[in-house]
Amino acid sequence: MGRAAAQGTIHVSAINIRDYSVEKHKKVDDYPYGGGAGMLMQAQPVYDAWKAVTDAIGHPVRTVYLTPQAQVFTQAEARSFAQEEDLILLCGHYEGIDERVLETIVTDYVSIGDYVLTGGELPALVLIDSISRMVPGVLSNADSGIDESFSENLLEYPQYTRPEEWMGKKVPEILLSGHHAKVEAWRKEQSILRTKERRPDLLEDNE
Ligand code: ADE
Repeated sequence: MGRAAAQGTIHVSAINIRDYSVEKHKKVDDYPYGGGAGMLMQAQPVYDAWKAVTDAIGHPVRTVYLTPQAQVFTQAEARSFAQEEDLILLCGHYEGIDERVLETIVTDYVSIGDYVLTGGELPALVLIDSISRMVPGVLSNADSGIDESFSENLLEYPQYTRPEEWMGKKVPEILLSGHHAKVEAWRKEQSILRTKERRPDLLEDNE
C-alpha cells in the first residue's frame, strides 16, 4: 500500500470528523434519545465532514459505513469497490451514529466479521488493503490478484518452495513433473478438498 501510494496508484486521506464539530470543546457525541448505554455520534459533524469531502471530489461518491450491522465483506465486494474512482469510508465510534445522517449519506453498509470492534478504523484499513490490491498496478505481478482464494468461491491450494525435502517432508511429486495440465488439475482438486474441509459453507454458496 505504501509503494502504491508513493507511485500515485492509490491515494488515501484521513479526515477527522472532530474538525467539523461546531461546539467549543469539539464534541461530536451525545446521549441516545430513549436512554441506553453509551454515546452516539451526532449527525451534524458527520454530515459536514462528508459534505466537505464530497464537494472536494466534485461528484457523488459511494459512501461505505463500517458497522457490524451489515453483511460480511467479501472478495467480490473488494473487486466491485476497486472499480470506483473514489470511495468514502465512514468510521463510527462509541455506540454508533445518529440514524438520520446514515440514511442521508450512506450507500453501502459493510461489516468485516461477526464480532464487535470499538470503531470502524480497523475495518476501514482492512477494506483499503483488500480493495487496493485489486487495483491494477498495485501488485507487482499483474496476475497475483486473480488466481487466489475466493476467486471461484474456493480456497487456495497448498503451495511449496525450496527445498524439495524439509524435515523429511517432500514436495508433492506432481509439482516437480513440469506437466502444466496435471499441476493445474491437482491444484483444482486440492482447492476443492481444502474448501470442503475448512469452509464447506463456501461450496454451498456456489449451488
Ligand atoms: N465497527 C465495529 N465492529 C465492526 C465490524 N465487525 N465490522 C465493521 N465495522 C465495525
